[in-house]
Amino acid sequence: MKLIPETTIPTYLVETQAEANEVLALEIERLVKSQDGSATLGLATGSSPIGLYSELVRLYEAGELSLKEVTSFNLDEYMGLGPDHPASYRSFMSEHLFAETDIRLTETHFPPSDESGLGACAKWEDTIRAAGGIDWQLLGVGRNGHIGFNEPGSPFDSRTRRIELAQSTREANARFFKSIDEVPRYAVTMGVGTILEAQRLRVLAFGDTKTDILARVLRGDNDESIPLNALRLHSDAALYIDAAAASKLL
Ligand code: GLP
Repeated sequence: MKLIPETTIPTYLVETQAEANEVLALEIERLVKSQDGSATLGLATGSSPIGLYSELVRLYEAGELSLKEVTSFNLDEYMGLGPDHPASYRSFMSEHLFAETDIRLTETHFPPSDESGLGACAKWEDTIRAAGGIDWQLLGVGRNGHIGFNEPGSPFDSRTRRIELAQSTREANARFFKSIDEVPRYAVTMGVGTILEAQRLRVLAFGDTKTDILARVLRGDNDESIPLNALRLHSDAALYIDAAAASKLL
């Protein structure tokens, strides 16, 4: 793993995705152990984090890591699917992490994705604050530079709220559904401002669909319409990217 010079946000080039997963899993393990097991983690969905979750499951099975005292907050959730829908983010997390470890489901939180509105979103943010804030937040990047489901144009001080998904996001995520028509049009996401309040931000981006947006953000001007650019404002944010994603930066 090596630091790529002259990027706007610290960025590490990893030799393999497995290397990034091991580095981040170790960071989580150290954090959890340093706080007697009671860390608050911000979690993400999509293809990028799957390997990291497998690594955490491996550590749990090896007896090296327990998530029993961990609290988690997921970044986002689709509206209108219900938690048991196979494409909901709760189902995703259950399949890749929750059901495979000792995390207590009562301590796993998702943004309120029913029709309960703004009051519920503010209350959900209170739950984050009551947990002491997020110690360590995982992020992926959309092809258009979204983080969570904060689509381009999301203000950097935005809070948890309902958002209309960009057509390109619905197309990119159609692979998790039978057809694009089934992909919800709305989601609830932590805001950019909410994300920036986490102590540490760690971004995984792999493959050639991320090359252009990473070159634009990491070498380009500070375009405030691209949510990923908000990470420039954070003092402990880092990206872990593979050679395909980094190809315009090397
Ligand atoms: C979805 C999620 C994002 C995630 C993005 C990238 O849109 N809401 O949080 O970062 O997908 O996904 P992938 O890792 O599959 O490229």
